[in-house]
Amino acid sequence: MGKISKLLKPYIQEAKPYSPTAHLRLLYAERPKYIRLQANELPFGISPKVKQAIIDALPEAHLYPDSSYYDVKQALAKYTGFDDTHLVLANGSTQFLDGLYYGFINPGDSVLFIPPDYGPYRIRLAICGGKAQFAPRPPPDYSWNFDKAVDAITPETKVVVVVSPNNPCGDCVPEAGLRQLLDRDILVVVDEAYYEFADSTLVHLVKKYENLIVTRTFAKVFGFAGLRLGYAITSPDLATYLSKVLHHFPVNRLTAAAAVAALADTEFLDYVRREIRANRTYLEQGLDRIDGVRSFPSQTNFVLSQLTKQGISSSDVTQKLQDEGILVRDYTGKAGLEGEFIRITVGTIEQNKAVIQGITTAIT
Ligand SMILES: Cc1ncc(COP(=O)(O)O)c(C=O)c1O
Repeated sequence: MGKISKLLKPYIQEAKPYSPTAHLRLLYAERPKYIRLQANELPFGISPKVKQAIIDALPEAHLYPDSSYYDVKQALAKYTGFDDTHLVLANGSTQFLDGLYYGFINPGDSVLFIPPDYGPYRIRLAICGGKAQFAPRPPPDYSWNFDKAVDAITPETKVVVVVSPNNPCGDCVPEAGLRQLLDRDILVVVDEAYYEFADSTLVHLVKKYENLIVTRTFAKVFGFAGLRLGYAITSPDLATYLSKVLHHFPVNRLTAAAAVAALADTEFLDYVRREIRANRTYLEQGLDRIDGVRSFPSQTNFVLSQLTKQGISSSDVTQKLQDEGILVRDYTGKAGLEGEFIRITVGTIEQNKAVIQGITTAIT
């Protein structure tokens, strides 16, 4: 340890940096070889109109973006029904949690999670010395229990994070349960990263509850996982606080231009929503036909499957699929799940056929 380690905040000292394993780096290097069904990316790529908008924006790439992001916010206001006083942008939706942690969490405060849920939010807590608390949904069905979540709130709890539709379980949070949390003096984050693939949203509650923040991403339905763009819909006060702690140029100029084009291209958006829903049904039905696979109904662009046959492990199945050129996510021991689990992104019909065939071969 050198001199500078003594200068570092003690809680950052203990934090683990996010670093992809050698295994993941290898997969990235050999990326074209694989059908990627492990990261809930869009199998169709970005829309041609978005590509063109990026090309058109290139001559001005040397200029700073408009820090008010007027065009993006006007387009988002139309898309969401919330005016710009309710909207905040970030370089990916995960960044909003950083903003909330910076703004609201002192060392010793805590954030309540309801696993199974999205792991990176826990890891990021280290940036402010916060502690994670848990009100898990119990196996085997992982049903919601908001009485338990409310009971878990302590004077130290400042924020509760709810993922709806849920990653990895795929289901939406019931509104009545969420209201139980919103009635408490805490901030409530509802992560709607997969909102466009679901039948319901909780965003209307932003009009009633100033302590609610709904976060969404362009990474899924618009295919911006590499371009990076997230937005939050919240009360004007919370929007102002978040803008104070987040960067003043959160979104680069090319992504901003791409976002305006993506929101205008309703034809592509409708196509993606329709295709992913149809392909999801295809994937779910194919998985249901495999003996030893129990899948959870999904409102997202992925399906969580439990491998229920004795002696069949998810690491084995994941490896066999990888050998066949297909990547899925091994979820065993992760996110609060108990048992052997894999998570499969909804792909094209050809990709779905390949993964269904691959799993069938791997477990029989
Ligand atoms: C629940 C959830 N929230 C957020 C994200 C990431 O969003 P972004 O890429 O905008 O940071 C993901 C990505 O998989 C996710 O599953």
